[in-house]
Amino acid sequence: MTGSADRAGVSLGVGPLPHARCRSRARTRAGTHLPPRYLDGTSPEGGQLLHPAPTQRLRRLRRTPALRRSFAETELPPRSLVLPIFVAAELDGERPVPSLPGVSQHGVASAVALAEQAVELGVGGVILFGIPSRKDPAGSGGWDPEGPVPAALRAMRAAVGDRLVLWADVCQCEYTDHGHCGPVGGDGEVDNDAAVAGYVRDALAYAEAGADLVAPSGMMDGQVAAIRHGLDEARHQAVGIVAYAAKFASAFYGPFREAAGSTLVGGDRHGHQLDVGNAREAARELALDAAEGADVLMVKPALAYLDVVAAARRQHQLPIAAYHVSGEYAMVAAAHDRGWLDGPEVLEESVRSIRRAGADVVLTYAALDLARRVVT
Ligand code: PBG
Repeated sequence: MTGSADRAGVSLGVGPLPHARCRSRARTRAGTHLPPRYLDGTSPEGGQLLHPAPTQRLRRLRRTPALRRSFAETELPPRSLVLPIFVAAELDGERPVPSLPGVSQHGVASAVALAEQAVELGVGGVILFGIPSRKDPAGSGGWDPEGPVPAALRAMRAAVGDRLVLWADVCQCEYTDHGHCGPVGGDGEVDNDAAVAGYVRDALAYAEAGADLVAPSGMMDGQVAAIRHGLDEARHQAVGIVAYAAKFASAFYGPFREAAGSTLVGGDRHGHQLDVGNAREAARELALDAAEGADVLMVKPALAYLDVVAAARRQHQLPIAAYHVSGEYAMVAAAHDRGWLDGPEVLEESVRSIRRAGADVVLTYAALDLARRVVT
C-alpha cells in the first residue's frame, strides 16, 4: 500500500485500498473525465467518488437479440455435429437404451432411416457402433464383412450417397466376450499389438463397406500408424482416420456400455486409457497420433476436459473433434426428467461450450435435437 493510498483510506473511513484508489483517481480527474454526479462534495478534499462510472459498457452489444446475434462468437451449425448410432445385428426396428433416453439400438433399416433424418437436418455425420450377435475372445465379429457395421455402412451409402459423412468406430470391446478392447494376454492386460492387428482388420472391413472415416478408440500404442499403413496397402488411401487421441479412463462412459453391450466382465481400462488428471500426457498422445498420420484428433469425454480441447486447438492445425459422451448426455436427461433443469437448454449450452473451447466437430447423442433447435 502506498503512502497516499494510506492517507486516503484513513480520510474515507472505509475499507482501505480499493476506495482509496478510486478516490485519488477521482480527484485528479474531477471536472475533466467524470461527470459531477459521481462526486458528493462531502470529503475534506472536496469530493468523494461514490462509485466508479463504467466507461466501458459491454451491455451495449447485448441489448437486443439482433445485437447479440451480430456479435455472437461461437456458432453451432448442424454440420459440426456427429450422431452416434448403435447398430445391432438381427434387430428388427429399434430397442430403446434405458440409460440414454431418446437413444436406441437400431436394426439396419432403422439405422438408415436415422441417417436420412440426419441428412435432412444438415447434420455433418454419423458414427457407427456395432452390437454383434455373438462374441469371442478375439473380437473377430468386428471385421466380419456381414457384421452390423459393414451392413449398415453399405445400406446407408446406398441411401444417402455422399450427403453424409460416415464414420465407423474401431474397437474390439463390443466384440470380445470379456468386453476388453482386444485380446487379453497371459498377464491379464490387453495385448497391445494383437489388438492393433485386429483394429487394422476392422478398419479394412469398414473401408470396404464404404466408411469415409475410421475412428480407432482403443487407445493402443501405434494404432493410428498401423491402420494408416493397412488402409494404404489395400488402396484405401482416401479413407481418413479420426484418432481418439486423448481418451481418458472416464466413468462418464457408463451408459455407453449398456447401449453397446460392452460391459467389462472383469478389470478396467486404466492400463490403456489416460489418467483423468494427466493433461501433459494427453498432449503427448495428441502429438503422437498427429505424427502417425491422423486426419482428425479427438478428445474424449468433452465437458470435463475442455482444457485439453483448448490446448489441442492451440497446438495443432488438424481438425479437433470432441466426444460429448453418454454420461454427459444421460446426466442431463435424468435431471430433465425430474424437472430439475431444462434439458434441451443445458445440452445446447454444453455443446456450444465444447465448440467455444475449440472443437470443430462434436459427437453427441443430442445431434438431431440440436440440429432441429439451434439456428446458428
Ligand atoms: C470404445 C468406446 C467407448 C466409447 C466410445 N468408444 C467406451 C469405452 O471406451 O469404454 C464411449 C462413448 C460414450 O460413452 O458415449 N469402443
